[in-house]
Amino acid sequence: MLYDTSKKILFRLDPERAHDVALWGLKHLNACGFSFNKNTIVNNPSNVMGLSFRNKVGLAAGLDKNGDFINSLQSLGFGFIELGTVTPKPQVGNPKPRLFRIPEAEALVNRLGFNNKGVDYLIDRVKSSNRNAVIGINIGKNKTTPIEDAHHDYEHCLRKVYTLADYITINISSPNTENLRSLQESANLHMLLKHISVVRETLRNTHGVMKPIAIKIAPDLDDFELENIVDAVRTYGFNGIVSTNTTIQRPNKNLKNLSETGGLSGGLLTQKSTKIIQKLSNLTQGSIPIIGVGGILTSQDALDKINAGASLIQLYSGLIYKGPKLVKDCAQAISQAEVPGK
Ligand SMILES: Cc1cc2nc3c(=O)[nH]c(=O)nc-3n(C[C@H](O)[C@H](O)[C@H](O)COP(=O)(O)O)c2cc1C
Repeated sequence: MLYDTSKKILFRLDPERAHDVALWGLKHLNACGFSFNKNTIVNNPSNVMGLSFRNKVGLAAGLDKNGDFINSLQSLGFGFIELGTVTPKPQVGNPKPRLFRIPEAEALVNRLGFNNKGVDYLIDRVKSSNRNAVIGINIGKNKTTPIEDAHHDYEHCLRKVYTLADYITINISSPNTENLRSLQESANLHMLLKHISVVRETLRNTHGVMKPIAIKIAPDLDDFELENIVDAVRTYGFNGIVSTNTTIQRPNKNLKNLSETGGLSGGLLTQKSTKIIQKLSNLTQGSIPIIGVGGILTSQDALDKINAGASLIQLYSGLIYKGPKLVKDCAQAISQAEVPGK
């Protein structure tokens, strides 16, 4: 109810401004002791990638890029929160406007371009939060770093966040950083993942702990490319695949903002990302956990992702269109659908 009223006001604002206002409001409501999902945090303990999650519904990367809203987002009942994408140095991202709504399809197009305050800022925010959910940190490369040197940026961020993050996601699938998606190609991917696995080994020896690392992929990959991803993830012992990021493809529909450059998310991504999850699940036969994300707008969408083979799910656009109630609805539906003892 409160979200429905707020949404009417928020949707009159420019989308990026609405995003800032909504998060600011959430933070202040939380500081005053108000929580949208108070006393209704779904308890459905799950073990994935060696981590214990209080439920299977997470916040997708990109909403809290800098870790500024950890406490208030946790209070919405998420089982986990993926912060970032964060890069070694702060950067402003692409020129505005760079975020567009397509309300008829409950979809968004964004070309933000990894606007973030840099990894050191994010670390401070995580340290000063009262974390009570699993925290993932999604890492990327700076715009000014040539793609051939991308591994240095991932290494820099990995070293910085290693002890703080519960898991780390390597983002090689944003469409808004030039050539980033080429890191998903077989030779580049093997080079990058090999490099990261060597760094992880040294970090494991130094800190005595092995942190799970997931790879975030695009929904625009063909079967051959998906096989290569699974092969590389297996070869270098990575622990999960976040599937999927936004799509650069467009359905044949006549909708305002659909032709804006950037990544499409929400209702026009739902089926595409579920298909990728299904294919990954067939390829991995359950051996690599899949975090299902892309166009979850209802609890049925969440169940479809789980039934396609996802071990956990994440929300972004659905939260904008449906509000915080979606977190509880999805977590409850997943919990109820699970057969006890299975
Ligand atoms: C405005 C916006 C910003 C995003 N920023 C990031 C990001 O920084 N890193 C990332 O890995 N994914 C980012 N994403 C992608 C989401 O995490 C998610 O994979 C995608 O939107 C599909 O989920 P959805 O349909 O539920 O939004 C962003 C998405 C949106 C809409």
